[in-house]
Amino acid sequence: MVLSLSSHNVIQYLQDVGLCNSGHGRSDESDLPRSSSKNFNLLVTLADNRQLLLKQERIINSEGLPHELFKEWLFHQLLQQFPVLGNVSAIAPLVVHFDEENSILVRNYLSDYLELRTLYHNNEIFPPEIAYAIGTTLAGLHRATFQRREYKDFMATAPQGEFRYGFYNPAQGLGSISPEIFGTVPSDALKFYVLYQQYESLSSAIADLAYDWNPCCLTHNDLKLNNILVHSRWQQLDNCLVRLIDWEACTWGDPAFDLGTLLASYLEIWLKSLVVDHTIELEESLHLALIPLEILQPSIIALIRSYLCAFPMILEYRSDFILRVIQFAGLALIHQIQDMITCQKNFNNADICMLQVAKSLLTMPEQAVLTIFGISESEIVNPVAKIHRLPQPQKEQQLLRIYYEKTRLRGC
Ligand SMILES: Nc1ncnc2c1ncn2[C@@H]1O[C@H](COP(=O)(O)OP(=O)(O)O)[C@@H](O)[C@H]1O
Ligand SMILES: [Mg+2]
Repeated sequence: MVLSLSSHNVIQYLQDVGLCNSGHGRSDESDLPRSSSKNFNLLVTLADNRQLLLKQERIINSEGLPHELFKEWLFHQLLQQFPVLGNVSAIAPLVVHFDEENSILVRNYLSDYLELRTLYHNNEIFPPEIAYAIGTTLAGLHRATFQRREYKDFMATAPQGEFRYGFYNPAQGLGSISPEIFGTVPSDALKFYVLYQQYESLSSAIADLAYDWNPCCLTHNDLKLNNILVHSRWQQLDNCLVRLIDWEACTWGDPAFDLGTLLASYLEIWLKSLVVDHTIELEESLHLALIPLEILQPSIIALIRSYLCAFPMILEYRSDFILRVIQFAGLALIHQIQDMITCQKNFNNADICMLQVAKSLLTMPEQAVLTIFGISESEIVNPVAKIHRLPQPQKEQQLLRIYYEKTRLRGC
């Protein structure tokens, strides 16, 4: 029988599986920053003050079995089997137990770390060295597994009694929209679906991105700011500054997808701080943001440059890599709006702005590079190319901003 984990039975469960031998553990449900809708998370403090995070998957997939936590378990086993990956401190193993029957995963909880999203949100500081550490770590993972058959075969392992026919392609649009939508989303949010359907160029850009999807290395596939932890004493440390967590979506994938998802998380900080009003044009709103894009750009540039410096080969493999990162960022913004509508039943004018920006990133990635990074593609690549002798992008002279450089304030 499947056990339903709760704060009442968690200590008994840990004793039964041999992770807690006294009866003195404490369960702190409220201490966790936020649980996703698909998992139930519990934080337990043991008698020796060690903390464990227990995750139970609650949503069952179409075949009737939960599988996301299995992927994190598979990743954990991969780290054990290939120490060249497992010894990288930013991704080092944290899982201590997996119970396939009850879909429960237990992780060591790092109480010295905090979510990167919380750090940014609470302090409104964006130190480029943190983004630099993330870019280097991610590139290290992609580079170490790039086109390596042994890792690909390992990631193709299916849960017991199941088959894996191929790797999931995450470059998907919203799918077909059926009449049931009227009962499931608030009426304000229907505008999002109407606009999305109206923009034909958007669906065809997503279809091209899906067609071009090129799985070639191990990818995290859910690399948002809340799945990255930063050491609370990050200012004093050089090592182990960041940890990437929540490997439930990891698979054999396209490296541009990870970087695009992360870029979208940075852009959300800007887009969620817009001053939006029906009397203000989009370009003006984008410039009146409380957290301007310019404040985030040093981190965004540090992220992409450190990535390319640690994995320059990706530019030889895909000369359009940066453009694909931009497009995947656009796609991630669209999925973020959709998640907000389904989970929080929330959609407002700021989300319409986000959709417009997402559309620009997906349909005009060449122009968007200059807006998002504040520098051209060749300026991004130049410092990397000098060290690694890479081919230079040719298209700089065609770049245009996707909004005007100097927006006049109304009435001025
Ligand atoms: N090992 C850990 N150490 C510290 N904090 C963690 C750890 N694992 C998770 N967390 C915190 O708990 C949150 C939820 O965990 P996560 O694995 O991302 O679950 P979910 O599937 O609910 O997103 C994270 O965003 C992070 O703040
Ligand atoms: Mg998470």
